[in-house]
Amino acid sequence: MNSIIAPSMLAADFGNLQRDVDMVNNSSAEWFHMDVMDGVFVPNISYGPSVIKAMSKHTDKFIDAHLMIVNPDRYIDDYKNAGVHNLTFHYEACDHLHRSMQAIRNAGMQAGVALNPHTPVHLLEDIIQDVDLVLIMSVNPGFGGQKFIENAISKVAQTKDLIIQKNSSAKIEVDGGVNTETGKKLVNAGADVLVAGSFVFKSENPTETIDKLRNCAH
Ligand code: DX5
Ligand code: ZN
Repeated sequence: MNSIIAPSMLAADFGNLQRDVDMVNNSSAEWFHMDVMDGVFVPNISYGPSVIKAMSKHTDKFIDAHLMIVNPDRYIDDYKNAGVHNLTFHYEACDHLHRSMQAIRNAGMQAGVALNPHTPVHLLEDIIQDVDLVLIMSVNPGFGGQKFIENAISKVAQTKDLIIQKNSSAKIEVDGGVNTETGKKLVNAGADVLVAGSFVFKSENPTETIDKLRNCAH
């Protein structure tokens, strides 16, 4: 089975956003990965629901929003209205994760939880059955183009074990420093979705790079 590729639009050219959205539309990538940063939870600011709403009008593909912000619950309806299909909150940003995941599902979206590199997988034991996606961060969130943290591979394997043990249907997504080399190891460890920013957008032929990533474990 091929992996789901989710190009991170953080690495796109914001001055040519529609062109880059069309590149993804015409590629084998199934998802768009949208990184929202507030300058508080992470030391960088990106874009919010209004930009996602504008771009979502130009695609029928699945929109995966990764919120790196404090108090993410405040904006659930805004992301639903922006056309988001999966909304991911950081474990570290939620006091009442179960309530947050339920609220996302009640708004009609899939619910994801992201773990920073320092957050252990076992903390998901009592929530894994109530989420649609686990996002393992393989860099510290905030910026594209960082070096892959190898420990993410064993975290993916641990997440896969937990999913099987608890009979959960959650997908495993990995984000940060993903290329064909790291991607292969991640898919072999159990990853379903690979997020890639710089590796796709800084390559000479982004469409071909997406194909390579999609097939990298085979
Ligand atoms: C980092 C973001 C990532 C980022 C990945 O905080 O969550 O989605 O865009 O970029 P690359 O693939 O360049 O590491
Ligand atoms: Zn991301």
